Amino acid sequence: MKISKAVSRVTDKTSSKSPGKLPASCAVMILAAGQGKRMRSALPKVLHEIGGQPLLFHILNRISETAPKAPVAIVVGHGKEQVEAAVLAQLDFSKMNITFVHQPEQRGTGHAARCAMDSPWGDAQVRAKNPVLVLPGDLPLIPGSLITQMVEPLGKGGGLRLLTCQLPDPKGYGRVVRRGKKGPVLRIVEEKDANAREKEIHEVAASIYFFHSPFLQASLHRLSDKNAQSEYYLTDLVANASRAKKKVDVLNWQSAEDLRGINDPWELAVAQKFLNERTVKAWAQKGVRFADPWSVQIDSQVELAEDVSIQSGVILHGKTRIRKGAIIGPRVVLKNVLVGEEAQLKVGTVAENSVIGAHAQLGPYAHLRPESEVGEYSKIGNFVELKKTKIGTSTSIAHLSYLGDAEVGSRVNIGCGFVTCNFDGRVIDGQRKHRTVIEDDVFLGSDCQAIAPIRIGKGAYVASGSTLTQSVEPDALAIARSRQVNKAGYASRLRGK
Ligand code: UD1
Ligand code: CA
Repeated sequence: MKISKAVSRVTDKTSSKSPGKLPASCAVMILAAGQGKRMRSALPKVLHEIGGQPLLFHILNRISETAPKAPVAIVVGHGKEQVEAAVLAQLDFSKMNITFVHQPEQRGTGHAARCAMDSPWGDAQVRAKNPVLVLPGDLPLIPGSLITQMVEPLGKGGGLRLLTCQLPDPKGYGRVVRRGKKGPVLRIVEEKDANAREKEIHEVAASIYFFHSPFLQASLHRLSDKNAQSEYYLTDLVANASRAKKKVDVLNWQSAEDLRGINDPWELAVAQKFLNERTVKAWAQKGVRFADPWSVQIDSQVELAEDVSIQSGVILHGKTRIRKGAIIGPRVVLKNVLVGEEAQLKVGTVAENSVIGAHAQLGPYAHLRPESEVGEYSKIGNFVELKKTKIGTSTSIAHLSYLGDAEVGSRVNIGCGFVTCNFDGRVIDGQRKHRTVIEDDVFLGSDCQAIAPIRIGKGAYVASGSTLTQSVEPDALAIARSRQVNKAGYASRLRGK
Protein backbone atom coordinates (compact mmCIF):
# COMPACT_ATOMS: atom_id res chain seq x y z
CA MET A 1 0.00 0.00 0.00
CA LYS A 2 1.32 3.45 -0.96
CA ILE A 3 1.73 5.80 1.96
CA SER A 4 -0.18 8.70 0.46
CA LYS A 5 -3.12 6.40 -0.22
CA ALA A 6 -3.02 4.90 3.22
CA VAL A 7 -3.12 8.28 4.88
CA SER A 8 -5.80 9.76 2.63
CA ARG A 9 -7.97 6.66 2.83
CA VAL A 10 -8.38 7.13 6.55
CA THR A 11 -9.05 10.84 6.19
CA ASP A 12 -12.25 10.37 4.25
CA LYS A 13 -14.42 10.47 7.32
CA THR A 14 -13.10 13.79 8.61
CA SER A 15 -15.72 16.09 7.15
CA SER A 16 -18.72 14.14 8.41
CA LYS A 17 -19.33 15.90 11.72
CA SER A 18 -21.79 18.61 10.81
CA PRO A 19 -24.05 20.56 13.11
CA GLY A 20 -26.82 20.86 10.48
CA LYS A 21 -26.65 22.36 7.03
CA LEU A 22 -27.64 25.88 6.02
CA PRO A 23 -29.98 26.78 3.21
CA ALA A 24 -28.00 26.78 -0.04
CA SER A 25 -29.18 30.33 -0.68
CA CYS A 26 -27.00 31.95 1.97
CA ALA A 27 -23.71 33.55 0.91
CA VAL A 28 -20.59 33.95 3.02
CA MET A 29 -17.98 36.71 2.89
CA ILE A 30 -14.67 36.32 4.71
CA LEU A 31 -12.50 39.38 5.27
CA ALA A 32 -8.90 38.30 4.91
CA ALA A 33 -7.10 41.17 3.20
CA GLY A 34 -5.56 42.83 6.23
CA GLN A 35 -1.83 42.73 6.81
CA GLY A 36 -2.15 42.01 10.49
CA LYS A 37 0.44 44.64 11.38
CA ARG A 38 0.36 43.64 15.02
CA MET A 39 1.64 40.15 14.10
CA ARG A 40 4.94 41.76 12.96
CA SER A 41 5.44 38.95 10.48
CA ALA A 42 6.04 38.55 6.76
CA LEU A 43 3.34 35.86 6.67
CA PRO A 44 -0.19 37.22 6.07
CA LYS A 45 -2.11 37.02 9.35
CA VAL A 46 -4.76 34.54 8.16
CA LEU A 47 -2.03 32.05 7.23
CA HIS A 48 -0.60 31.85 10.75
CA GLU A 49 -1.45 28.46 12.18
CA ILE A 50 -3.14 27.05 15.23
CA GLY A 51 -3.99 23.37 15.59
CA GLY A 52 -1.81 22.71 12.54
CA GLN A 53 -3.92 24.76 10.14
CA PRO A 54 -3.96 28.39 9.00
CA LEU A 55 -6.50 30.60 10.81
CA LEU A 56 -8.48 31.00 7.61
CA PHE A 57 -8.82 27.22 7.14
CA HIS A 58 -10.57 26.85 10.50
CA ILE A 59 -13.29 29.18 9.29
CA LEU A 60 -13.51 27.48 5.89
CA ASN A 61 -13.83 24.10 7.65
CA ARG A 62 -16.81 25.36 9.66
CA ILE A 63 -18.41 26.70 6.48
CA SER A 64 -17.83 23.49 4.54
CA GLU A 65 -19.56 21.58 7.37
CA THR A 66 -22.53 23.92 7.75
CA ALA A 67 -22.95 25.43 4.26
CA PRO A 68 -21.00 23.31 1.78
CA LYS A 69 -22.78 24.82 -1.23
CA ALA A 70 -22.80 28.47 -0.19
CA PRO A 71 -21.10 30.93 -2.54
CA VAL A 72 -18.08 32.09 -0.52
CA ALA A 73 -16.09 35.24 -1.25
CA ILE A 74 -12.70 35.59 0.38
CA VAL A 75 -11.50 39.19 0.29
CA VAL A 76 -7.74 39.11 -0.20
CA GLY A 77 -5.18 41.90 -0.46
CA HIS A 78 -2.06 41.74 1.65
CA GLY A 79 -0.17 38.58 0.62
CA LYS A 80 -2.97 37.87 -1.87
CA GLU A 81 -1.01 35.29 -3.93
CA GLN A 82 0.09 33.40 -0.83
CA VAL A 83 -3.41 33.26 0.65
CA GLU A 84 -5.01 32.18 -2.64
CA ALA A 85 -2.37 29.54 -3.27
CA ALA A 86 -2.78 28.10 0.23
CA VAL A 87 -6.56 27.78 -0.13
CA LEU A 88 -6.36 26.34 -3.65
CA ALA A 89 -3.78 23.77 -2.59
CA GLN A 90 -6.07 22.36 0.08
CA LEU A 91 -8.07 19.46 -1.39
CA ASP A 92 -10.63 19.68 1.42
CA PHE A 93 -11.90 22.95 -0.07
CA SER A 94 -11.94 21.89 -3.72
CA LYS A 95 -15.67 21.12 -3.65
CA MET A 96 -16.59 24.47 -2.11
CA ASN A 97 -17.81 27.38 -4.20
CA ILE A 98 -15.04 29.90 -3.43
CA THR A 99 -14.37 33.20 -5.22
CA PHE A 100 -11.42 35.45 -4.37
CA VAL A 101 -12.12 39.17 -4.40
CA HIS A 102 -9.28 41.66 -4.49
CA GLN A 103 -9.08 44.60 -2.10
CA PRO A 104 -6.22 46.56 -3.67
CA GLU A 105 -5.60 48.82 -0.66
CA GLN A 106 -6.47 47.98 2.92
CA ARG A 107 -8.76 50.84 3.81
CA GLY A 108 -10.79 49.10 6.48
CA THR A 109 -13.32 46.33 6.99
CA GLY A 110 -16.12 48.35 5.37
CA HIS A 111 -13.98 48.94 2.30
CA ALA A 112 -13.14 45.22 2.15
CA ALA A 113 -16.84 44.32 2.23
CA ARG A 114 -17.53 46.93 -0.41
CA CYS A 115 -14.94 45.41 -2.73
CA ALA A 116 -16.80 42.12 -2.47
CA MET A 117 -20.30 43.57 -2.89
CA ASP A 118 -19.22 45.68 -5.90
CA SER A 119 -17.67 42.66 -7.60
CA PRO A 120 -19.57 40.29 -9.93
CA TRP A 121 -19.83 37.96 -6.89
CA GLY A 122 -21.67 40.67 -4.92
CA ASP A 123 -23.97 41.48 -7.85
CA ALA A 124 -24.88 37.80 -8.13
CA GLN A 125 -25.84 37.67 -4.44
CA VAL A 126 -27.99 40.79 -4.73
CA ARG A 127 -29.71 39.45 -7.85
CA ALA A 128 -30.37 36.12 -6.14
CA LYS A 129 -31.47 37.94 -2.95
CA ASN A 130 -29.03 35.80 -1.01
CA PRO A 131 -28.44 37.11 2.49
CA VAL A 132 -24.72 37.48 3.27
CA LEU A 133 -22.92 36.25 6.38
CA VAL A 134 -19.77 38.33 6.98
CA LEU A 135 -16.94 36.79 9.00
CA PRO A 136 -13.47 38.13 9.77
CA GLY A 137 -10.59 35.84 8.87
CA ASP A 138 -9.03 36.04 12.31
CA LEU A 139 -11.65 34.32 14.52
CA PRO A 140 -10.65 30.67 14.11
CA LEU A 141 -12.52 29.26 17.11
CA ILE A 142 -16.09 29.99 16.08
CA PRO A 143 -18.18 26.81 16.23
CA GLY A 144 -20.49 25.61 13.44
CA SER A 145 -23.51 26.20 15.67
CA LEU A 146 -22.70 29.92 15.76
CA ILE A 147 -22.87 30.02 11.96
CA THR A 148 -26.21 28.16 11.84
CA GLN A 149 -27.74 30.50 14.41
CA MET A 150 -26.41 33.62 12.66
CA VAL A 151 -28.06 32.73 9.36
CA GLU A 152 -31.57 32.12 10.70
CA PRO A 153 -33.82 34.13 8.32
CA LEU A 154 -33.91 37.87 9.04
CA GLY A 155 -37.37 39.19 9.87
CA LYS A 156 -39.33 41.45 7.52
CA GLY A 157 -37.92 44.97 7.45
CA GLY A 158 -34.82 43.78 9.27
CA GLY A 159 -31.56 45.06 7.86
CA LEU A 160 -29.02 42.94 9.63
CA ARG A 161 -28.15 40.69 12.53
CA LEU A 162 -25.07 41.26 14.59
CA LEU A 163 -23.27 38.99 17.02
CA THR A 164 -22.38 40.42 20.39
CA CYS A 165 -20.75 39.07 23.50
CA GLN A 166 -20.14 40.24 27.05
CA LEU A 167 -16.42 40.40 27.77
CA PRO A 168 -14.91 40.98 31.21
CA ASP A 169 -12.02 42.74 29.44
CA PRO A 170 -13.46 44.37 26.30
CA LYS A 171 -10.29 46.31 25.43
CA GLY A 172 -9.60 46.47 21.69
CA TYR A 173 -13.10 45.46 20.59
CA GLY A 174 -15.87 47.56 19.09
CA ARG A 175 -18.42 48.42 21.83
CA VAL A 176 -22.16 48.03 21.32
CA VAL A 177 -23.94 51.30 22.10
CA ARG A 178 -27.64 50.85 22.95
CA ARG A 179 -30.46 53.24 23.71
CA GLY A 180 -30.52 53.09 27.49
CA LYS A 181 -28.99 50.02 29.08
CA LYS A 182 -30.97 47.29 27.38
CA GLY A 183 -32.66 49.19 24.55
CA PRO A 184 -32.17 48.67 20.83
CA VAL A 185 -28.66 48.84 19.39
CA LEU A 186 -27.82 52.28 18.02
CA ARG A 187 -24.24 51.90 16.79
CA ILE A 188 -20.85 50.31 17.34
CA VAL A 189 -17.95 52.40 18.45
CA GLU A 190 -14.38 51.28 17.90
CA GLU A 191 -11.97 51.34 20.85
CA LYS A 192 -9.91 54.09 19.22
CA ASP A 193 -12.97 56.31 18.72
CA ALA A 194 -14.64 55.56 22.04
CA ASN A 195 -14.97 58.10 24.84
CA ALA A 196 -14.33 57.17 28.46
CA ARG A 197 -17.99 56.25 29.07
CA GLU A 198 -18.20 54.08 25.97
CA LYS A 199 -15.02 52.27 26.96
CA GLU A 200 -16.88 51.14 30.09
CA ILE A 201 -19.29 49.07 27.93
CA HIS A 202 -18.62 45.34 28.19
CA GLU A 203 -20.88 44.25 25.33
CA VAL A 204 -18.68 43.99 22.22
CA ALA A 205 -19.24 43.29 18.52
CA ALA A 206 -17.26 40.37 17.18
CA SER A 207 -17.25 41.43 13.54
CA ILE A 208 -19.78 38.75 12.59
CA TYR A 209 -22.82 40.03 10.70
CA PHE A 210 -25.70 38.75 8.61
CA PHE A 211 -27.12 41.17 6.06
CA HIS A 212 -29.89 41.46 3.53
CA SER A 213 -27.69 41.77 0.47
CA PRO A 214 -29.42 44.79 -1.15
CA PHE A 215 -29.13 46.70 2.14
CA LEU A 216 -25.48 45.70 2.44
CA GLN A 217 -24.55 46.71 -1.09
CA ALA A 218 -26.36 50.04 -0.93
CA SER A 219 -25.21 51.15 2.51
CA LEU A 220 -21.52 50.29 2.02
CA HIS A 221 -21.42 53.20 -0.43
CA ARG A 222 -22.55 55.59 2.29
CA LEU A 223 -19.68 54.82 4.71
CA SER A 224 -17.26 57.56 5.62
CA ASP A 225 -13.67 57.33 6.82
CA LYS A 226 -13.86 60.25 9.24
CA ASN A 227 -12.69 58.38 12.32
CA ALA A 228 -9.58 57.82 14.40
CA GLN A 229 -8.07 55.32 11.94
CA SER A 230 -9.24 57.02 8.69
CA GLU A 231 -10.73 53.70 7.67
CA TYR A 232 -14.11 52.63 6.34
CA TYR A 233 -15.62 50.66 9.20
CA LEU A 234 -18.03 47.82 8.50
CA THR A 235 -19.30 48.40 12.02
CA ASP A 236 -20.80 51.74 10.93
CA LEU A 237 -23.47 49.86 9.00
CA VAL A 238 -25.15 49.23 12.34
CA ALA A 239 -25.67 52.97 12.87
CA ASN A 240 -26.86 53.25 9.24
CA ALA A 241 -29.47 50.57 9.76
CA SER A 242 -30.64 52.01 13.04
CA ARG A 243 -30.95 55.52 11.52
CA ALA A 244 -32.93 54.07 8.62
CA LYS A 245 -35.28 52.47 11.20
CA LYS A 246 -34.26 48.98 10.08
CA LYS A 247 -34.44 46.38 12.80
CA VAL A 248 -31.02 45.44 14.12
CA ASP A 249 -31.25 41.86 15.30
CA VAL A 250 -28.78 40.77 17.97
CA LEU A 251 -27.44 37.30 18.65
CA ASN A 252 -25.79 37.38 22.05
CA TRP A 253 -23.13 34.70 22.29
CA GLN A 254 -22.43 33.24 25.72
CA SER A 255 -19.00 31.70 25.24
CA ALA A 256 -16.38 34.41 24.88
CA GLU A 257 -13.75 31.73 24.20
CA ASP A 258 -15.35 31.00 20.82
CA LEU A 259 -14.73 34.57 19.73
CA ARG A 260 -11.07 34.88 20.53
CA GLY A 261 -9.67 37.20 17.88
CA ILE A 262 -6.06 36.94 16.83
CA ASN A 263 -4.20 40.17 16.37
CA ASP A 264 -0.72 39.51 17.77
CA PRO A 265 1.55 36.51 18.44
CA TRP A 266 0.46 36.30 22.07
CA GLU A 267 -3.20 36.01 21.10
CA LEU A 268 -2.16 33.40 18.54
CA ALA A 269 -0.41 31.38 21.26
CA VAL A 270 -3.36 31.66 23.63
CA ALA A 271 -5.80 30.56 20.93
CA GLN A 272 -3.54 27.60 20.10
CA LYS A 273 -3.53 26.55 23.75
CA PHE A 274 -7.29 26.89 24.01
CA LEU A 275 -7.98 24.99 20.77
CA ASN A 276 -5.56 22.27 21.84
CA GLU A 277 -7.28 21.82 25.17
CA ARG A 278 -10.62 21.58 23.37
CA THR A 279 -9.21 18.93 20.99
CA VAL A 280 -7.57 16.86 23.74
CA LYS A 281 -10.69 16.96 25.89
CA ALA A 282 -12.89 15.85 23.00
CA TRP A 283 -10.63 12.83 22.37
CA ALA A 284 -10.49 11.98 26.06
CA GLN A 285 -14.29 11.94 26.08
CA LYS A 286 -14.20 9.54 23.14
CA GLY A 287 -12.07 6.99 24.94
CA VAL A 288 -8.46 8.13 24.48
CA ARG A 289 -6.40 7.99 27.67
CA PHE A 290 -3.90 10.79 28.37
CA ALA A 291 -1.27 10.48 31.07
CA ASP A 292 -0.89 14.27 31.16
CA PRO A 293 -3.44 16.01 28.90
CA TRP A 294 -1.88 19.46 29.41
CA SER A 295 1.48 18.40 28.04
CA VAL A 296 0.35 17.04 24.67
CA GLN A 297 -0.29 18.89 21.42
CA ILE A 298 -2.80 17.49 18.94
CA ASP A 299 -3.64 19.15 15.63
CA SER A 300 -7.29 19.50 14.78
CA GLN A 301 -7.20 17.04 11.85
CA VAL A 302 -5.69 14.17 13.83
CA GLU A 303 -7.95 11.13 14.43
CA LEU A 304 -7.64 8.77 17.37
CA ALA A 305 -9.47 5.54 18.14
CA GLU A 306 -10.84 4.21 21.40
CA ASP A 307 -8.39 2.70 23.83
CA VAL A 308 -5.43 4.60 22.47
CA SER A 309 -3.10 5.60 25.27
CA ILE A 310 -1.03 8.77 25.02
CA GLN A 311 1.83 9.51 27.41
CA SER A 312 3.14 12.94 28.31
CA GLY A 313 4.76 15.35 25.89
CA VAL A 314 3.37 13.70 22.73
CA ILE A 315 2.94 15.92 19.63
CA LEU A 316 0.61 14.74 16.85
CA HIS A 317 0.59 16.80 13.67
CA GLY A 318 -1.31 16.88 10.39
CA LYS A 319 -3.51 13.99 9.40
CA THR A 320 -2.06 11.49 11.82
CA ARG A 321 -4.41 8.53 12.47
CA ILE A 322 -3.97 6.20 15.42
CA ARG A 323 -5.91 2.96 15.59
CA LYS A 324 -7.37 1.10 18.57
CA GLY A 325 -5.21 0.12 21.50
CA ALA A 326 -1.99 1.73 20.26
CA ILE A 327 0.33 3.06 22.94
CA ILE A 328 2.13 6.31 22.17
CA GLY A 329 5.04 6.78 24.55
CA PRO A 330 6.44 9.95 26.08
CA ARG A 331 7.69 12.72 23.75
CA VAL A 332 6.74 10.87 20.56
CA VAL A 333 6.32 13.27 17.62
CA LEU A 334 4.25 12.16 14.60
CA LYS A 335 3.26 14.04 11.45
CA ASN A 336 0.87 12.49 8.92
CA VAL A 337 1.46 9.00 10.26
CA LEU A 338 -0.92 6.06 10.29
CA VAL A 339 -0.38 3.90 13.39
CA GLY A 340 -1.96 0.42 13.36
CA GLU A 341 -3.89 -1.30 16.12
CA GLU A 342 -1.97 -2.14 19.28
CA ALA A 343 1.27 -0.75 17.92
CA GLN A 344 3.62 0.52 20.57
CA LEU A 345 5.79 3.61 20.08
CA LYS A 346 8.32 4.05 22.83
CA VAL A 347 9.83 7.25 24.17
CA GLY A 348 11.21 9.78 21.72
CA THR A 349 10.09 8.11 18.50
CA VAL A 350 9.76 10.57 15.60
CA ALA A 351 7.94 9.75 12.34
CA GLU A 352 6.66 11.67 9.33
CA ASN A 353 4.50 10.66 6.33
CA SER A 354 4.82 7.01 7.23
CA VAL A 355 2.73 3.94 7.99
CA ILE A 356 3.25 1.78 11.07
CA GLY A 357 1.56 -1.62 11.01
CA ALA A 358 -0.56 -3.22 13.70
CA HIS A 359 1.36 -4.62 16.69
CA ALA A 360 4.63 -3.10 15.48
CA GLN A 361 7.05 -1.84 18.13
CA LEU A 362 9.16 1.24 17.61
CA GLY A 363 11.78 3.01 19.68
CA PRO A 364 12.93 4.24 22.03
CA TYR A 365 14.24 6.98 19.74
CA ALA A 366 13.39 5.45 16.36
CA HIS A 367 13.19 7.84 13.41
CA LEU A 368 10.94 7.24 10.41
CA ARG A 369 11.59 9.79 7.70
CA PRO A 370 9.00 10.28 4.91
CA GLU A 371 7.69 7.36 2.86
CA SER A 372 8.58 4.64 5.28
CA GLU A 373 6.38 1.70 6.09
CA VAL A 374 6.79 -0.80 8.91
CA GLY A 375 4.85 -4.07 8.62
CA GLU A 376 2.76 -5.77 11.28
CA TYR A 377 4.60 -7.26 14.28
CA SER A 378 7.92 -5.77 13.15
CA LYS A 379 10.32 -4.17 15.56
CA ILE A 380 12.33 -1.02 14.89
CA GLY A 381 14.52 -0.39 17.91
CA ASN A 382 16.59 2.40 19.39
CA PHE A 383 18.49 4.77 17.13
CA VAL A 384 17.24 3.16 13.95
CA GLU A 385 16.54 5.56 11.09
CA LEU A 386 14.43 4.63 8.07
CA LYS A 387 14.01 6.76 4.96
CA LYS A 388 11.86 5.70 1.95
CA THR A 389 12.08 2.21 3.33
CA LYS A 390 9.48 -0.53 3.42
CA ILE A 391 9.74 -3.25 6.05
CA GLY A 392 7.68 -6.47 5.85
CA THR A 393 6.03 -8.27 8.76
CA SER A 394 7.73 -9.75 11.83
CA THR A 395 11.09 -8.28 10.86
CA SER A 396 13.48 -7.00 13.52
CA ILE A 397 15.91 -4.10 13.20
CA ALA A 398 16.56 -3.62 16.85
CA HIS A 399 19.54 -1.31 17.25
CA LEU A 400 21.61 1.49 15.72
CA SER A 401 20.96 1.21 11.98
CA TYR A 402 20.26 3.36 8.92
CA LEU A 403 18.16 2.08 6.03
CA GLY A 404 17.47 4.44 3.11
CA ASP A 405 15.76 3.62 -0.21
CA ALA A 406 15.41 0.02 0.90
CA GLU A 407 12.91 -2.77 0.78
CA VAL A 408 13.12 -5.39 3.49
CA GLY A 409 11.01 -8.56 3.45
CA SER A 410 9.30 -10.47 6.24
CA ARG A 411 10.94 -12.40 9.11
CA VAL A 412 14.26 -10.69 8.43
CA ASN A 413 16.68 -10.20 11.30
CA ILE A 414 19.07 -7.30 11.00
CA GLY A 415 21.73 -7.17 13.69
CA CYS A 416 23.10 -4.11 15.41
CA GLY A 417 24.71 -1.36 13.35
CA PHE A 418 23.58 -2.07 9.79
CA VAL A 419 23.95 0.67 7.17
CA THR A 420 22.60 0.89 3.62
CA CYS A 421 25.21 2.90 1.72
CA ASN A 422 22.66 4.41 -0.66
CA PHE A 423 24.49 7.51 -1.84
CA ASP A 424 27.76 7.58 -3.70
CA GLY A 425 27.76 11.27 -4.59
CA ARG A 426 26.83 10.58 -8.24
CA VAL A 427 23.64 10.62 -10.29
CA ILE A 428 23.11 7.49 -12.38
CA ASP A 429 20.14 7.24 -14.80
CA GLY A 430 18.62 10.25 -13.04
CA GLN A 431 18.84 8.44 -9.70
CA ARG A 432 20.87 9.97 -6.92
CA LYS A 433 20.17 7.24 -4.40
CA HIS A 434 20.54 3.52 -4.96
CA ARG A 435 18.22 0.80 -3.73
CA THR A 436 18.85 -2.04 -1.34
CA VAL A 437 16.56 -5.06 -1.45
CA ILE A 438 16.64 -7.60 1.36
CA GLU A 439 14.33 -10.54 0.67
CA ASP A 440 12.32 -12.62 3.19
CA ASP A 441 14.01 -14.69 5.92
CA VAL A 442 17.45 -13.10 5.53
CA PHE A 443 19.72 -13.04 8.58
CA LEU A 444 22.19 -10.18 8.70
CA GLY A 445 24.83 -10.32 11.43
CA SER A 446 25.85 -7.24 13.34
CA ASP A 447 27.89 -4.38 11.91
CA CYS A 448 27.26 -4.92 8.20
CA GLN A 449 27.08 -2.43 5.37
CA ALA A 450 25.39 -2.93 2.01
CA ILE A 451 26.78 -0.82 -0.84
CA ALA A 452 23.71 -0.14 -3.01
CA PRO A 453 22.41 -1.00 -5.53
CA ILE A 454 22.32 -4.48 -4.09
CA ARG A 455 19.97 -7.43 -3.49
CA ILE A 456 20.28 -9.99 -0.71
CA GLY A 457 18.34 -13.13 -1.74
CA LYS A 458 15.71 -14.98 0.27
CA GLY A 459 17.05 -16.91 3.22
CA ALA A 460 20.65 -15.70 2.77
CA TYR A 461 22.95 -15.41 5.75
CA VAL A 462 25.42 -12.55 6.05
CA ALA A 463 28.29 -12.83 8.47
CA SER A 464 28.88 -10.10 11.04
CA GLY A 465 31.22 -7.32 10.04
CA SER A 466 30.62 -7.75 6.30
CA THR A 467 30.80 -4.91 3.84
CA LEU A 468 28.71 -6.21 0.94
CA THR A 469 29.58 -4.85 -2.46
CA GLN A 470 27.80 -7.52 -4.53
CA SER A 471 24.34 -9.06 -4.44
CA VAL A 472 23.94 -12.32 -2.50
CA GLU A 473 22.05 -15.26 -4.01
CA PRO A 474 19.16 -16.86 -2.08
CA ASP A 475 20.27 -19.22 0.69
CA ALA A 476 23.96 -18.32 0.29
CA LEU A 477 26.30 -17.37 3.13
CA ALA A 478 28.15 -14.11 2.45
CA ILE A 479 31.32 -13.24 4.34
CA ALA A 480 32.93 -10.01 3.26
CA ARG A 481 35.67 -9.28 5.74
CA SER A 482 39.35 -10.17 6.02
CA ARG A 483 40.19 -13.50 7.65
CA GLN A 484 41.40 -13.32 11.25
CA VAL A 485 45.02 -14.12 12.08
CA ASN A 486 46.04 -14.84 15.70
CA LYS A 487 49.77 -14.43 16.41
CA ALA A 488 50.75 -16.37 19.52
CA GLY A 489 52.69 -14.46 22.18
CA TYR A 490 52.68 -11.18 20.19
CA ALA A 491 50.86 -9.22 22.90
CA SER A 492 53.52 -9.74 25.55
CA ARG A 493 56.30 -9.00 23.04
CA LEU A 494 54.57 -5.66 22.20
CA ARG A 495 54.29 -4.83 25.89
CA GLY A 496 57.98 -5.63 26.36
CA LYS A 497 59.04 -3.04 23.77
C1 UD1 B 1 -12.72 44.48 14.10
C2 UD1 B 1 -13.96 45.34 14.29
C3 UD1 B 1 -14.28 45.44 15.78
C4 UD1 B 1 -14.44 44.07 16.39
C5 UD1 B 1 -13.22 43.19 16.10
C6 UD1 B 1 -13.55 41.78 16.55
C7 UD1 B 1 -14.08 46.99 12.50
C8 UD1 B 1 -13.82 48.40 12.12
N1 UD1 B 1 -13.74 46.65 13.75
O1 UD1 B 1 -11.60 45.14 14.67
O2 UD1 B 1 -15.47 46.16 15.97
O3 UD1 B 1 -14.66 44.16 17.78
O4 UD1 B 1 -12.94 43.18 14.68
O5 UD1 B 1 -12.66 40.84 16.10
O6 UD1 B 1 -14.61 46.24 11.72
N2 UD1 B 1 -9.56 43.35 6.86
C9 UD1 B 1 -9.60 43.44 5.49
N3 UD1 B 1 -9.33 44.62 4.88
C10 UD1 B 1 -9.06 45.75 5.58
C11 UD1 B 1 -9.02 45.66 7.01
C12 UD1 B 1 -9.28 44.45 7.61
O7 UD1 B 1 -9.85 42.44 4.80
O8 UD1 B 1 -8.85 46.80 4.96
C13 UD1 B 1 -9.81 42.03 7.50
C14 UD1 B 1 -8.63 41.54 8.29
O9 UD1 B 1 -7.82 40.71 7.46
C15 UD1 B 1 -9.27 40.75 9.42
C16 UD1 B 1 -10.63 41.38 9.59
O10 UD1 B 1 -10.87 42.17 8.44
O11 UD1 B 1 -9.43 39.38 9.10
C17 UD1 B 1 -10.71 42.26 10.84
O12 UD1 B 1 -9.70 43.25 10.77
P1 UD1 B 1 -8.87 43.71 12.04
O13 UD1 B 1 -7.91 44.76 11.63
O14 UD1 B 1 -8.36 42.55 12.78
O15 UD1 B 1 -10.04 44.42 12.90
P2 UD1 B 1 -10.07 44.68 14.45
O16 UD1 B 1 -9.21 45.83 14.78
O17 UD1 B 1 -9.82 43.42 15.19
CA1 CA C 1 -9.19 41.35 14.61
